[in-house]
Amino acid sequence: MNYQPDQCLKGNILIVDDTPDNLRLLSTMLYSKGYQVRKALSGKFALQGVEMAKPDLILLDINMPEMSGYEVCQHLKANPQTSDIPVIFLSALDQVSDKIEAFAVGGADYIIKPFQSEEVLARINNQLTLRSLQKQLKDQNALLQKEIEERKLAEDREREKACQLQLTIEQLKRTQSHLIQSEKMSGLGKMVAGVAHEINNPVNFIWGNLPPATKYAQDLIRLIQLYQETYPDSTLEISKLIEEIELDFLREDWPKLMRSMEVGAERIHQIVLSLRSFSRLNESDLKPVDIHEGIENTLLILQHRLKGTNDSPNIELIKDYGTVPNIICYASQLNQVFMNLLTNAIDALETQLSPRVITISTSLSQESTVKSENETSKFIVIRIADNGSGMSEEVRQHIFDPFFTTKPVGKGTGLGLSISYQIVVEKHQGKLTCISEPGKGTEMIIEIPVSGMKN
Ligand SMILES: Nc1ncnc2c1ncn2[C@@H]1O[C@H](COP(=O)(O)OP(=O)(O)OP(=O)(O)O)[C@@H](O)[C@H]1O
Ligand SMILES: [Mg+2]
Repeated sequence: MNYQPDQCLKGNILIVDDTPDNLRLLSTMLYSKGYQVRKALSGKFALQGVEMAKPDLILLDINMPEMSGYEVCQHLKANPQTSDIPVIFLSALDQVSDKIEAFAVGGADYIIKPFQSEEVLARINNQLTLRSLQKQLKDQNALLQKEIEERKLAEDREREKACQLQLTIEQLKRTQSHLIQSEKMSGLGKMVAGVAHEINNPVNFIWGNLPPATKYAQDLIRLIQLYQETYPDSTLEISKLIEEIELDFLREDWPKLMRSMEVGAERIHQIVLSLRSFSRLNESDLKPVDIHEGIENTLLILQHRLKGTNDSPNIELIKDYGTVPNIICYASQLNQVFMNLLTNAIDALETQLSPRVITISTSLSQESTVKSENETSKFIVIRIADNGSGMSEEVRQHIFDPFFTTKPVGKGTGLGLSISYQIVVEKHQGKLTCISEPGKGTEMIIEIPVSGMKN
């Protein structure tokens, strides 16, 4: 019989029975009802037939020589390819134990011979409907499974996209903060350099004229002295003027006055040098620098903020500078870092009552960090600590994020530390860490490799 499963809508049935008469009877009956029918006279043939083409259902006799129906069923159920074919046993045995055995080996139903055609048809129909429903369920399950997997894939793709987007946003924020900060710093640098230049000229007049002014004054005083010695009896008018201008005091005070003017001019001169050194506008290249000089210059610029007001005392500066070598670095950028950290420390002391203390210490790291097997690198460690407000763990976790600030709008941009982090970590391959607790102050630690920088 030519079996083509797709063309057979009602189902394809394999009948297994060692009695040819039974086979004929059943097949004629099923054929007449529109089923495709195949026949096998033994268990062996039945298994071969199933292997060639899978039937939709098997009607299986139990009592057969060589291989019983139970055995055939066990074979079918043991094979994953055939385990789902429903098997209906046909048997003259009607003991309960036989039926139990039939179900135990995987039978789907049991018909006792002699049978009524209607019963056989009803039971076959039952099993086929059940099977078709099961198949539908399986297909739907597979479809659902596929859909779930597709959705998972789509979700993964979306998640990846979101991740990428997050990265891009962060990158953008960094670039933006960098731009703003470098704009701010170059603006500040230019202004500082401009102011320094403008002050430098007039201060040079004063500075340059002080020595001759001192000399002239000394000469005049000498002349008066000589007059007084030569003409001890002065006129009444002269005596009166000497008294009026308090000549003795003037003579004594004048040199002191000149000296104090010199000190003042000298201080302005120093400030101008510091401003120039801080801005270091044309020194963007790497060069060996003394970090203490950078710190001192920065402190000088912040001088006014260290002084107290009516409500708060001066900020006490404790310096503990160690002996450290000059380091090769971007000097003006490191000055920016000192500026940012010191400004933060001063800000943190704003509401702090006495004592208000900032400690700056420098040292060479004791232990050297192993860079490669035979190369070690030493770090210069700069610690800037304040006994101010400190910060909570939550704040501490975000301080290096661009635009993170706890200061009121208009006061902080939230860029100081993120820029400092970039300068120390990315530009100088160093480390920037923070130790802080609410109410216990803050310590910022900068570590810069002594010889790590290469041009
Ligand atoms: N020494 C400190 N003590 C307490 N909190 C600090 C200290 N330094 C930084 N912070 C916290 O970290 C935040 C971020 O500091 P960052 O310097 O980046 O920005 P900012 O000071 O707020 O603004 P600006 O851009 O003007 O520096 C601060 O707003 C503050 O909450
Ligand atoms: Mg700041």
